[in-house]
Amino acid sequence: MEQLSSIEAWRNYANDQRAFGHAVALVPTMGALHDGHASLFRAARASGDVVIATIFVNPRQFGSAADLKSYPRTPHEDAVVAKENGVDCLVEPSLEEMWPDYPNSTSTTVSVHGIGDSLEGADRPGHFDGVASVVAKLFAVTGPCHAYFGEKDFQQLAVVRQMVRDLALPVEIIGCPIVRDPDGLAISSRNGQLSANGREQALAISRALRAVDAPATPSTLRRRMREVLEDAHVQTAYVEIVQPTTFVVAHDGDEGEFRALIAGIVEGVRLIDNAPVTLSSREA
Ligand code: PAF
Repeated sequence: MEQLSSIEAWRNYANDQRAFGHAVALVPTMGALHDGHASLFRAARASGDVVIATIFVNPRQFGSAADLKSYPRTPHEDAVVAKENGVDCLVEPSLEEMWPDYPNSTSTTVSVHGIGDSLEGADRPGHFDGVASVVAKLFAVTGPCHAYFGEKDFQQLAVVRQMVRDLALPVEIIGCPIVRDPDGLAISSRNGQLSANGREQALAISRALRAVDAPATPSTLRRRMREVLEDAHVQTAYVEIVQPTTFVVAHDGDEGEFRALIAGIVEGVRLIDNAPVTLSSREA
C-alpha cells in the first residue's frame, strides 16, 4: 500500500492510475478506522477500482475546539486496517495544504441548503458546510469515478449527493449499509468513549429503530421511538422521520419509504443512528 501526504503526490498517483486505464474509487475518512470503514474499503475494492482512502480530521466540521481535540487519532492502527482491507493508497494530507488559511474565514465554503439545515445541521451549525467543503476538495484532488460513504451518517450522504447533483461533479456516490456490533449498536469512532453502563443505555437507540419496522403513520412511529428512548432515560437531540433524498419531514398521510433518524446523547457522547421505515396513512 502506497502512503502519501502531499497534494501533488496524491494527485499524480490518481492521474497515473487513470492513465493506466483504471477507475479510481475514493473513501474519505477522518481516521480512527473501524469495521464500518473497513466495509467501505472492501466494497470499493470489490468494484475493481483502484482504492484511494483519505484520513483528514477536518477542523471545519467540528463545532467546538474540545470536540476536535478529543476526536480519536490512531494513525498506526489505521494504516493496518486500510492495508488489510484492500486500500491501494492511503493519503493523510496536512492541515496546511487542505486549509491554507485556517482558521481565518477567508476560505471557500460549499453550502448545501435545505438538506443540510435541519437535524444535524441545526444542532451543529456549520457542520455540513465543513463536510461539503472538504469533500469537494477531496474530489477535486482525487478525481474519483466512485466515492463511498456509510449510511450511518445518512444526512451527510444526502448532503454529498445533493452537492454532486447541483455541481454536476463527475463522481458516482455509493452509500453502504450501517455496520453494527452484535448487540445492535451502530459502530462509531465515538463508541469507545462510553462506559459499560453507557453502552447498555445507548442500545436503546437501535432498539427504538427496530420498534418501527412495521408500517404506520409518522406520529405513531415517532411516539414508539420516543417511548423506547424515554424508558432507557436516553436524552434525545431529535427523533425524526424524513423523505430520504430531500430530508423533508414526514407528515401523517404520507405513504411509502422514508427514513427514521435519531440523535441521542449518552454520557455526553452524541450518537446517531437511522433505519428505513415504511409509512402508511392507516395504523397497522
Ligand atoms: O464521515 C466522515 O468521516 C467525514 O465527515 C468525511 C466524509 C470524511 C468528511 O470529513
